[in-house]
Amino acid sequence: MRNLKSLIEQMTLEEKAGLCSGDSFWRTKAIERLDIPAINLSDGPHGLRAQGEDQDHLGVNESKPATCFPTAAGLASSWSVALLEQLGAALGDEAQAEGLHVVLGPGANIKRSPLCGRNFEYFSEDPLLSSHLAAAHIRGTQSRGVGSSLKHFAANNQEHRRMSVDARVDERTLREIYLASFEYAVKETQPWTVMCAYNRLNGEYCSEHRRLLTDILRNEWGFEGYVVSDWAAVNERVAGLAAGMELEMPASGGERDAQIVAAVQNGQLEEAVLDVAVERLLRITFKAVDARLENASFDAEDHHQLARRIARESMVLLQNDGTLPLSNEHRVAVIGEFAERPRYQGGGSSHVNATRVEPLLEALETRGASFDYTKGFEIDRDAPDRQLEQKAAQRARDADVAVLCLGLPDRHESEGYDRTHLNLPANQLALIEAVTAAQPNTVVVLANGAPIVMPWAGQVSAILEGYLGGQAVGAALADLLYGEVSPSGKLAETFPQRLEDNPVHLNFPGEGDVVRYGEGIFVGYRYHDTQDVAPLFPFGHGLSYSRFDYANLTLSDDTFSGDGRLTVSLDVTNSGDCEASEIVQLYLSDQTQTVPVAAQALRGFDRVTLAPGATARVEMTLARRDFCWYDAERADWRLPTGAFEVRIGASSRDIRLSRSIEVHVDETPLPAIGRNTLLGDLQTHEGAARVLREHLADLAEELPMLNSLMDKGGDNDLMDAMGRYLPLRALISFSSFTEARLDALLKDLKALA
Ligand code: BGC
Repeated sequence: MRNLKSLIEQMTLEEKAGLCSGDSFWRTKAIERLDIPAINLSDGPHGLRAQGEDQDHLGVNESKPATCFPTAAGLASSWSVALLEQLGAALGDEAQAEGLHVVLGPGANIKRSPLCGRNFEYFSEDPLLSSHLAAAHIRGTQSRGVGSSLKHFAANNQEHRRMSVDARVDERTLREIYLASFEYAVKETQPWTVMCAYNRLNGEYCSEHRRLLTDILRNEWGFEGYVVSDWAAVNERVAGLAAGMELEMPASGGERDAQIVAAVQNGQLEEAVLDVAVERLLRITFKAVDARLENASFDAEDHHQLARRIARESMVLLQNDGTLPLSNEHRVAVIGEFAERPRYQGGGSSHVNATRVEPLLEALETRGASFDYTKGFEIDRDAPDRQLEQKAAQRARDADVAVLCLGLPDRHESEGYDRTHLNLPANQLALIEAVTAAQPNTVVVLANGAPIVMPWAGQVSAILEGYLGGQAVGAALADLLYGEVSPSGKLAETFPQRLEDNPVHLNFPGEGDVVRYGEGIFVGYRYHDTQDVAPLFPFGHGLSYSRFDYANLTLSDDTFSGDGRLTVSLDVTNSGDCEASEIVQLYLSDQTQTVPVAAQALRGFDRVTLAPGATARVEMTLARRDFCWYDAERADWRLPTGAFEVRIGASSRDIRLSRSIEVHVDETPLPAIGRNTLLGDLQTHEGAARVLREHLADLAEELPMLNSLMDKGGDNDLMDAMGRYLPLRALISFSSFTEARLDALLKDLKALA
């Protein structure tokens, strides 16, 4: 074990400050005289972007060849913790082979709006799913002795004005949705680093947000690694260091190191704060260097096949009238330039230079399928092209089935800017019209990183959402189209019928540098289910070539007190005729009406693979936190008393089984006590109600609004309401109560705390 403290004692102030920023775009600083090494960081979440001489943070310059796996939008649709772990491990292996110590990812930001240009890099609109998948990704990478950087912390949910926008989020929403998406992953896996976001959160830059980086991340969640800035996210360096942001990236040419030195010298920053930061940096640096495997390598073909397996578990069959799967007897018209030039990843910092790319056409040739190809439209243009459409219609007419390969071109979605609409380009829409008029059996295969609207869905036989499927996209699509494997992915986000149906619509992307999260906790399905706004395809939806029956739901108890765990189990049977996987979802519906809540919230999931006729017993567990809401006033998670419903669904809109459960809480917490505390709030607390009765007994005759407190009838709604909403100070106006008696009452109430 190295003695970090004594190492720090030997460092000059300048050396310590210097360690708090990078040496170059992707490398930290070394201090040779003390044998302190540098480490290498590199993007990104679904493949490495190890760069040579020409370095940039936007994927502009070429990087070394690496496996490009499907991006997070698709990965999340697998709902597979095991698969995400395998992906993370593969990234770790490639990182070892390239001499990288930390991989910048995964991204656990919530998909607040389907327009966010970076949604393809994020997992879900649901924090539980997002955080569990992020955790699996990190576990995989770190199992290989390579660190992860969980990003972008926090509330980085749009690209519009991404480096300056102030996300105004109320505390309950922040805790239940946006922070929850990071919380489990941090607590469960201890990522070596967390990357702070570019944006501001409630007025402060995340890079200098003490509450976020120190109070919550470190003190509440127990984070032990270090915080790295997103590239150029630093505003005030000294404030950032004091707030808990240890490493600035990339290099700042020594400018900000000098600011740190000056701040220590002039007493603005305690040297002890710098020492703690340096210790955290050194701990990870040595951990990374110690875990380095010299001469590591990876098998590119193995990883390509892993990318293929992951892709086919990630794609989602949205609609199918039985046209899929195809058989080798079908004469297929393959239409759409994406079949030849697939869009398999997104633009920006996550851009991977793939070891190879397998387009659909190549995969169809490899499997000896009977098909004809015509491009139908050009990816690089949006305007319709009548000639290409007519040719495509002719090919479609001559075939048994048309497979239309559509999607969003690169320029339509990317890091750096948001989308402005949810439509496919005009040339693709015109092509759908032309082809469906010529061929009733039309299958649409989509390549996109985020939802699109599909006014044409009723005109086509099947829709396979391929997301951005990684370098083996073509092979995975062919496997699914021909039924080599049954589709099994389910949406990790809601596809709305119209952009206007999205809850964020009125508050996106904000006014100037302010974006208000006015929809609160009602993000995605939480809004659609609560307001009963029918989506195009709901959260959790995905079809299979098989069928699954759900039965025998049991709960380990029909009451819950907040202690221990509650086990939820059920039988899932594959009642179709091919092997397939099913994603089982557990939703909780809080019916206590304690505070406004979503109609239901995802609280568990499992994925099972079953042979035809086979049954599996699926078991999921619930704990206290799953039943709680976040009480901002008390800064704590609160367990409400009353009825909940446990729902088991094949999607959020396909609930198959449900059971009621009663939650009993031992004690309601004492409300904050003051002159303005309401009688009704005090009445919910047993002790406070007793003290009130003792102090106010003589007023019972004078004040009928105390009837319910005094257990006298309480059948006059008006009087009960007057009493419930009466601040203590108002007793003086309405009765013979005095200031002196109020003081005595407050003293006794406070003594209960
Ligand atoms: C992105 C990060 C990325 C970094 C380094 C930034 O622009 O927001 O996600 O890791 O660049 O490329």
